[in-house]
Amino acid sequence: MSKNQDFSSLKISTEIRERLQEQFPTVIALAACPPEEVARRCEINKKSAERAVNQARKQIGMAEPITADELLEKRIAKPRITTSSQQLDDILGGGLSVGAITEFSGAFATGKTQIAFQLCVNIQRSIEEGGLNGKALFIDTENTFAPARVAEMSYSFTDDPKLFLKNIYVSRAFNVDHQIQIVEKADKLIESNNIRLVIVDSMASHFRAEFPGKDNLPRRQQKLMSHAETLQRVAEAYDLAVMTTNQILSNPDGIFAGTSNLEPALGFAWGHRPTHRILLRKSRGTTRIARIFDSPELPEREAVFHITPQGIRDGPPLDY
Ligand code: GTP
Ligand code: MG
Repeated sequence: MSKNQDFSSLKISTEIRERLQEQFPTVIALAACPPEEVARRCEINKKSAERAVNQARKQIGMAEPITADELLEKRIAKPRITTSSQQLDDILGGGLSVGAITEFSGAFATGKTQIAFQLCVNIQRSIEEGGLNGKALFIDTENTFAPARVAEMSYSFTDDPKLFLKNIYVSRAFNVDHQIQIVEKADKLIESNNIRLVIVDSMASHFRAEFPGKDNLPRRQQKLMSHAETLQRVAEAYDLAVMTTNQILSNPDGIFAGTSNLEPALGFAWGHRPTHRILLRKSRGTTRIARIFDSPELPEREAVFHITPQGIRDGPPLDY
């Protein structure tokens, strides 16, 4: 897909074109959006939205299937983002994938947020160094973004951490609707700042707090699925990596029944949305264990990593 497509060749009225361009910085972003969302965001009728989206899809070649060998080549060509742990990268197939959602779940202090911080630094490095020369958008639902800790991690690469900090956009999300809206409105920010990593830390906290119990489940699921759709759309439209974190809960009949009572929160419907799912657990001291347990292309495997003063690493801290 080429990014050099423009809106001028779409056969639509000037007024609709202007409204679309206000909401979608590229034709790719428009093509990847469900027509209902286009209609709502641009305040146009559904028929016009459908027509515009169909034309956009045609223009960028999204309407035609491609063969599996072409797809394989495309996938292999895609760079990965390093986690700074070789072992963790290995079980992820070389690092975090672009165009996909990768979920890290685990109990408190298992390292979910630390991995997110490390990725915010690493995304900025060159492709040879395991980054994408890109910037990060960190959606913080728990008020745990810690710039000083990110600065500490960036000292491995620079004497001036501000060079890294200024490329991380932090959005504090105060509730479910706000969290959803931040992603829905992120197109311009992503496009104009070369954002290649979007983090939602955590996916679960507002959804679980605002929609407790069985009675609220249908409404929670509906909002959660719409949020997941938008995250997947930005991942594919901008060829960026989405990393989400998730809490765990106790469920003796859950997905690991027989081996563990613990499973990621947010239920089955959400469980199908991330492309790769990783469960973290604590071991001795700084040691953490990551298990990839759900991925269409990666086997179930474990990696051992450490949370060191410098960030995520394979080995323990030197003074440990
Ligand atoms: P919740 O958000 O509470 O669910 O946990 P989490 O999985 O996000 O935990 P997080 O990634 O914040 O990991 C917390 C652990 O990281 C702590 O227990 C420490 O072991 C380690 N850690 C956090 N900050 C630092 C730091 O500044 N230096 C070092 N060396 N380790 C840190
Ligand atoms: Mg955390």
